[in-house]
Amino acid sequence: MSENAYDLLIRGGTVYDGTGSPGAPADVGIRDGVIVAVGDIDGAGNRTIDAGGMSIAPGFIDVHAHDDAAILGGSMDFKLLQGVTTDIVGNCGAGVAPMGDRLMPGAELVLGSGVAPTWSSFGEYMEEIDRSSLALNVGCLVPHGAVRFRRMGMDARAPTDGEMSEMRADVAEGMEAGALGLSTGLIYPPGTFAKTREIIELARVAAAAGGIYASHIRNEADGLLDAVAEAIAIGGGAGLPVHISHHKASGQPNWGKTKESIELIETRRDQGIDITFDAYPYVAASTVLSAMARRPEAADPDSVLVASVREKHEYEGKTIAQIAEMLDLPPADAVRRVLSEEPQAIAVFFVMDEADVRRVLGHRLCMIGSDGIPSATGKPHPRLYGTFARVLGTYCRTERLFPLEEALRKMTSLPAKRFGLSDRGAIGEGKAADIVVFDPETIEDVATYEEPRKHPAGIQYVIVNGQVAVDEGRQTEARAGELLRRS
Ligand code: CU
Ligand code: ZN
Repeated sequence: MSENAYDLLIRGGTVYDGTGSPGAPADVGIRDGVIVAVGDIDGAGNRTIDAGGMSIAPGFIDVHAHDDAAILGGSMDFKLLQGVTTDIVGNCGAGVAPMGDRLMPGAELVLGSGVAPTWSSFGEYMEEIDRSSLALNVGCLVPHGAVRFRRMGMDARAPTDGEMSEMRADVAEGMEAGALGLSTGLIYPPGTFAKTREIIELARVAAAAGGIYASHIRNEADGLLDAVAEAIAIGGGAGLPVHISHHKASGQPNWGKTKESIELIETRRDQGIDITFDAYPYVAASTVLSAMARRPEAADPDSVLVASVREKHEYEGKTIAQIAEMLDLPPADAVRRVLSEEPQAIAVFFVMDEADVRRVLGHRLCMIGSDGIPSATGKPHPRLYGTFARVLGTYCRTERLFPLEEALRKMTSLPAKRFGLSDRGAIGEGKAADIVVFDPETIEDVATYEEPRKHPAGIQYVIVNGQVAVDEGRQTEARAGELLRRS
């Protein structure tokens, strides 16, 4: 038994409480996984961290993760070492639960770590998370695509009344287990087969449980504005908050459209509909290569980079133009060839304009979501490793898109409030002790498209529920994460 007042004491740093208030010098005292004192602290700690010259912030919340399987036993180094202490999974309508006799198409991507499902319902998956020893905290969205695949397979049609009530029951079961809301991915099959009405019906179930609707909207290119309007209509029809995932304008003819989409969002907010969004700080997107299967001719072969495959590793890190040359095929045929050999291939797409990225990222309603895809092989999009440090180093310190306290608000209190995580995202007495200690002068992302598996610089300590998970820049053995249920 220790005589000391605190398990852990962080001394001498500048505390940013996460609310957007400027930093102020203070010590932080932690006991039993909870912040019990903030200010000028006299007592002693079993361990004291000297944070002189450093910034102290609430642990970062990644509102858009695809670590649905990676969290189960994975080291999660790529998240912890960028200061993320909470991951929200089940995004883009994709996930590993609920499931019938097999996983939804595309779910193997997020099952990269080779986890074997032991669950069928969403609540059972959450129980498995709860039983696992987690490196960081996890919150879950019920993915519409998995629900639809379980009940309707890949049928491109409206559900029958019976199927509709089965899907409603699946969503209700997940929400009762403590899911944070419902997600959709309306460009991916089978989610794309759903009409607005189906989603409103399912979103009503999430609404009844106090959840949120998060969407990879139906179109991020020429149909961007209609797709944003659909997401808003779903929120209005079902009566719940809407969150637009990785908001962007994709493809050169659509650059600049985020100006109109944000105007639309602001107008509808003034009319009482609660809408927010997230973004990652890069001009390249990343998803399955099969997203371009329908029109492989449409993409610029120099702007598409194959990131991760299962076997033909010679494709990894090469553009479609380079692969076409290698295979001596026209680019569109090269895409078809890669897809026939590697149907699960993940690619990086250079489709955004920097001005749109800055407009979205800089907006007060925008939080940060990495959208990282944790593949075991290849060269994943660097956002998997670098997102949060890049926002703080490049967009905050270098580009001065926002002050540090605002950058931190986007990663902490804003998402915590939005996703119903009431004891997270802030430094204050009684809050869970999720904390990042970093050097505001040196923090930066190091991961690049060529060398994505690089941890950021400048992050000294990461505390998860009071345990030191990153110590002097190195990950420890601590696995103090918890399943977070909607509060
Ligand atoms: Cu996503
Ligand atoms: Zn998405």
